[in-house]
Amino acid sequence: MKEIKNILIAGGGMMGKNIAFVFTKNPAYRVGVYDMKEVDVAAGIRQNTAELVEKGVLTTEELEERLSRISFTTDKASPLLSKADLVVEAVFEDMDVKRSTFAMLEERCREDTIFCTNSSVMSPSLISRDLRKRDRFVGTHFWNPGHLIPLVEVVKSDATSDETAQTVMEVLAGVGKEPVLCKKDVPGFIANRMQHALWREAISIVENGIADAETVDKAVKYSFGLRLPQLGPLENADMVGMDLTWSIHDYILQYLEDSHRPSPLLEQLKAEGKQGFKTGEGFRKWTPEQIQEANSGLNSYLIKMLYGK
Ligand SMILES: NC(=O)c1ccc[n+]([C@@H]2O[C@H](COP(=O)([O-])OP(=O)(O)OC[C@H]3O[C@@H](n4cnc5c(N)ncnc54)[C@H](O)[C@@H]3O)[C@@H](O)[C@H]2O)c1
Repeated sequence: MKEIKNILIAGGGMMGKNIAFVFTKNPAYRVGVYDMKEVDVAAGIRQNTAELVEKGVLTTEELEERLSRISFTTDKASPLLSKADLVVEAVFEDMDVKRSTFAMLEERCREDTIFCTNSSVMSPSLISRDLRKRDRFVGTHFWNPGHLIPLVEVVKSDATSDETAQTVMEVLAGVGKEPVLCKKDVPGFIANRMQHALWREAISIVENGIADAETVDKAVKYSFGLRLPQLGPLENADMVGMDLTWSIHDYILQYLEDSHRPSPLLEQLKAEGKQGFKTGEGFRKWTPEQIQEANSGLNSYLIKMLYGK
């Protein structure tokens, strides 16, 4: 594997800060963060990891030592760019901004620097389209909150070399992530394709008056949602057998939602300004207390699941 020591995160926003923190897990790594504006990376990471410290998953000393290996710059001429062995881009989700960021990085980084994009939806083939050396470019889709969710989808473009993908998989595994390889550059990669197939069906059930939103969520949380962390869908299919899986699909697939457009119900809520947590109403009504509880409850749940604390 190519030796990686200096890592650069381009874009120090919500995802970039957490990704920078993740890489400090390996004490050999020096992490740089480059942004077009001043960002207090350390303050952001301290805030995002406060619950980990509170619950004893991370000591203050460990946190401070890890922060001491993160440097920040707004200067494109900084050695944090020219010396980087691997770059993870986490700038705005905008094709032109991403392309111009990589064009700039291509001028400043070495020929063999590995380039990764954290785009959640955009094609790595299209983002890297105009680069001179496209085989060293790959997608690395971290999930939010990046310092807690283990999955990173490593997405090959139409030109990513096997060596690049393999090196990135090993680097990510080395800092405690669970990288998975997406062998084809397809919209939604692996996990979002499944997540949104579920959301489409969930919305359709509400739209067709089969159950209300609260009931739909309850049906998931108290059934297959509980076993999912232990039993993936294909393990589950193997467990029940191909014969039963075939019979169920033969009967039910024809009745499932297969629309290729956002649902009329979603369109209507959007048009009415019902934007979920942002406005206090979406599929359900939300009080400020319920919103606060849902947000902090999620982090506490993830820490309990991942660290048992
Ligand atoms: N927010 C999520 O839940 C999530 C999850 C997975 C992936 N992503 C992806 O991660 C990327 C970053 O998302 P975010 O939520 O951290 O955004 P953000 O807006 O919080 O941060 C983006 C940062 O990039 C900087 N930036 C923008 N253009 C730049 C440029 N040309 N040069 C240098 N810095 C620049 C901004 O100043 C900002 O600090 C996006 O591609 C997004 O789709 C986001």
